[in-house]
Amino acid sequence: MILNIIYDSLDFRSLIILILILMILVDIIKNKNPHKFPPGPWPVPFLGTIFTEMDFKTMDKLTEVYGNVFSLRVGSEKAVIVSGYKTVKEALIGQIDNFVDRPQIPMFHKTFKGIGVALSNGYLWRMHRKFTVSHLRAFGVGKKSLELSIQQECVYLCDAFKAEKGPFNPLVTLNSAVSNIIACLTLGQRFDYHDEYYQNILRLDIECVKLAGSPRVQLYNVWPSLFEYLPGPHQTMFANYKKITDFLRGEIRKHREDWDPSNPRDYIDNYLSEMEKKESDPEAGFNIESLVVACLDLVEAGTETATTTLRWGLLYMIKFPEIQEKVQEEIDRVIGQSRQPCFADKDNMPYTHAVIHEIQRFGNAVPLGFPKRAAKDTTLGGYFIPKGTSVTTNLSSVLHDPEEWETPNTFNPKHFLDEHGQFRKRDAFLPFSAGKRACLGEQLARVELFLFFTSLLQQFSLSKCPGEEPSLDGEIWFTYAPAPYRICLSQR
Ligand code: HEM
Repeated sequence: MILNIIYDSLDFRSLIILILILMILVDIIKNKNPHKFPPGPWPVPFLGTIFTEMDFKTMDKLTEVYGNVFSLRVGSEKAVIVSGYKTVKEALIGQIDNFVDRPQIPMFHKTFKGIGVALSNGYLWRMHRKFTVSHLRAFGVGKKSLELSIQQECVYLCDAFKAEKGPFNPLVTLNSAVSNIIACLTLGQRFDYHDEYYQNILRLDIECVKLAGSPRVQLYNVWPSLFEYLPGPHQTMFANYKKITDFLRGEIRKHREDWDPSNPRDYIDNYLSEMEKKESDPEAGFNIESLVVACLDLVEAGTETATTTLRWGLLYMIKFPEIQEKVQEEIDRVIGQSRQPCFADKDNMPYTHAVIHEIQRFGNAVPLGFPKRAAKDTTLGGYFIPKGTSVTTNLSSVLHDPEEWETPNTFNPKHFLDEHGQFRKRDAFLPFSAGKRACLGEQLARVELFLFFTSLLQQFSLSKCPGEEPSLDGEIWFTYAPAPYRICLSQR
């Protein structure tokens, strides 16, 4: 009755305003935060905090305003951001079983579908992670065999650098070398640096990592069902992923044609055997679709991260030539010029080892890690985090935490040296994250970084090109990468 009276007395405009007010009220009630939920910027009705960019520099600024645990709202999804060594450690180590699952991120879910290794959950994830770790071990991570293939790749890399005539951007060559290590492990082969088809796959992959960091693509996460039908950079990302997965599907098809289970050549061969073994356990999810995604995980997570770190490394060497000289002095003293570096050399090369750690700390290649999801209601830093909330640990804030590092905003290898010049570990060195979901390629990455970096500096002196002053400010992709720069080489 009352509603009828109100309805009859309203004109069309007032009716629209009333409906809008009601919708806003419903939105406010639906998204009301629970008691003691972390504070954060005021969300716009329906949109949440979509005008807040999701990069680590913005997160650092918000941390200054709201503290080490704050919240955002992407559409109707709540996200909590955790910063600083102590709080991140409390989340990843103190609550090791709580922050294990990944939330569903629409822009990735379209390609990764919650299967494979990096973005899967539960039993399927546990089985895939276990299988992948044991494959990496069986194929030589931590053993001489893998080191030999990385050393071989170092020769190709140095030859490619030698062939450069004049200033050049090292991105493509470094990316080719690093990707070949993953290609050997997963696809059983390396690719020539001039292989046009493979180079195109690498270009598409880099573009995906760039696009995934762009705010315009991240809008897809707010309204996937709407953006699905709209043009925009997210469509380029999806199309690129489709081409990369088509390439991987082709490689898997070729493997199945000449597969000999008694003589596994690589990850794909081993996975095909695992599919047979797990036939009676469909929950483990070992099937061709998951294999495609698992290969993509390894290519994605294992190539761009290490390439970016090496790009930071070469950039710092041309910006800080006195540090480069000290590294070369140590290389000459411990390894000399007559043999290739090997990973065991690091034990006798504290300065170089410290420089590589400082490259990872200062370069900060994966600033926000990958998000997790709270498995149960919990408290963190005194705030209440309900089950299901997405939690992002700001690794950049750990690597630059003023309470942990003497000179957090300066490139300073002394962070990793004791008073006797010996290497010292630091608790807040978490570029690979920590806990059950930490990087599973850490050991491989460490060997790669040491061997590629020392091999290049053993053979070349690197310098800025005349008239050019590369910036230490990076570009925000899904990773944090140096802006394009060129180097000049002289052979040593
Ligand atoms: C310098 C090089 C690298 C850095 C800085 C790095 C960093 C990271 C970080 C921060 C994470 C997220 C961890 C988390 O969610 O808490 C991660 C996950 C992962 N990384 Fe790496 N990574 C590197 C190299 C590699 C390599 C070479 C591989 C290949 C074997 C790899 C494979 C993975 C995989 C599969 C995951 C997902 C693990 C899971 O969800 O269980 N990474 N990495």
